[in-house]
Amino acid sequence: MTTPTQHDGHHSRGSFATRLGIILATAGSAVGLGNIWRFPVETGQNGGAAFLLVYLMCVVFLGVPMMTAEFVIGRRTHTDIASAYQRLAPHEPWYVTGYAGILCVTLILSYYSVVAGWILRYAVAAVQGTMSSMTNASAFFESFSTATWPPLAYTLLFILLTHLIIVRGVQRGIESFSKLMMPLLAVMLCLLAAGSMAMPGARAGVTFLLRPDFSKVDASVVLSALGQAFFSLSIAIGCLSTYASYFRREVPLLKTAANVVALDTLVAIVSGFIIFPAVFSVEGVGADAGPGLVFVTLPSVFSSLFSGTPALGYAFALMFYLLLVLAALTSTISMHEEVTAFFVDRYHVSRRRAATYMTIVAMLLSTLCCLSFGPLRDFRPFMGRGFFDAFNDVTALWIMPLSGIVLSIFVGWRLPRDLVEDELTSGGLHRVPRWLVSTFFVLIRWVAPVAIGLIFANSLIA
Ligand code: PFF
Repeated sequence: MTTPTQHDGHHSRGSFATRLGIILATAGSAVGLGNIWRFPVETGQNGGAAFLLVYLMCVVFLGVPMMTAEFVIGRRTHTDIASAYQRLAPHEPWYVTGYAGILCVTLILSYYSVVAGWILRYAVAAVQGTMSSMTNASAFFESFSTATWPPLAYTLLFILLTHLIIVRGVQRGIESFSKLMMPLLAVMLCLLAAGSMAMPGARAGVTFLLRPDFSKVDASVVLSALGQAFFSLSIAIGCLSTYASYFRREVPLLKTAANVVALDTLVAIVSGFIIFPAVFSVEGVGADAGPGLVFVTLPSVFSSLFSGTPALGYAFALMFYLLLVLAALTSTISMHEEVTAFFVDRYHVSRRRAATYMTIVAMLLSTLCCLSFGPLRDFRPFMGRGFFDAFNDVTALWIMPLSGIVLSIFVGWRLPRDLVEDELTSGGLHRVPRWLVSTFFVLIRWVAPVAIGLIFANSLIA
């Protein structure tokens, strides 16, 4: 087989300049609505600390090796995910997984942008100061999300923002933006957590989040934890391998993966400490409010908590929705980049043109997702599901787990072991302890495919 090297003109593709930039950009992909919105909801509904424990096992034993495996593919080939599989295993059908990844990320971007658009609307409300007067948040959300033009305008605006950063390039766009935004995000997270924990009744929220209820942990909860881990870490669908295609040779892959996983998990946990103490501080608000937590529960919380000190309420709400906008934006950038890189590498079009193609596709598909809450509400062509739900289900329940299985088998069994070791050590530049390399291989060869396979099969039976 051919051993791909770095001679394929990747210099024109650009690369990340600094190690910090790499960690922040990759963490930017990982940290998103999945951490701040979905993780607290999942934890609250699935047994608190018991869920957290299962989640931690998933990210440590599957997340780190799978992320590293994706890095190996991307950094080795310096090309998009479909071409990467093809180059590493020519004339073999592995590349189908690459295309599945490109499809998956396109579908995720399409529905994710709708939620990001809602967030943007709430951020605007927070800036205008109308959040505190939102006495009936549920009615506001209902009438906004089911309308035609306003949610669509915000969704498309969000994709446009993503586009504007992508066209600036890997270093001047993605890296610079992440270096600026991720520290800001960290500061906002800390301030919000401190504010939330200082509220009266905060303790009840912490207890709710951390009370281990092992009776809730069954196969479906394990599946949720795994799905959440994959989604939160942007794993298995080529997004991380695309970023890794811009890594320089000396970047230590295992360490970078461990750093990113640690950051992502920290943000998820801190988000729980922001949301639940605040929610519990207001009487009569249920914690298991589900996905409506961010759009219905929190605005009510903000308006009633700070009725005495409006300035504080204004700052709190503004910071919270701004945090969500930035987190979502660094994630949509990474999704967009995967497909832009595909057009650039595969069809040799300019970056600007490639990004424009992707933006048009994303805008069209996200329009369908957005309207599936409004005018297309009764159009449910996918086994009774509308576009938004169907895109969510097919990516989370099918493409992500199946791609995960293929990815682990590919790197664990199909690629020559020396090639993988060569990447892990950056060609001998880094000393990686033997036990760590062996553990990586055990996890990627056996644990990952078996665990994901079992959980996936279980979800089919259930
Ligand atoms: N990891 C992102 C989040 O937690 O919000 C979502 C995501 C980004 C999923 C990129 C998949 C992806 F390829």
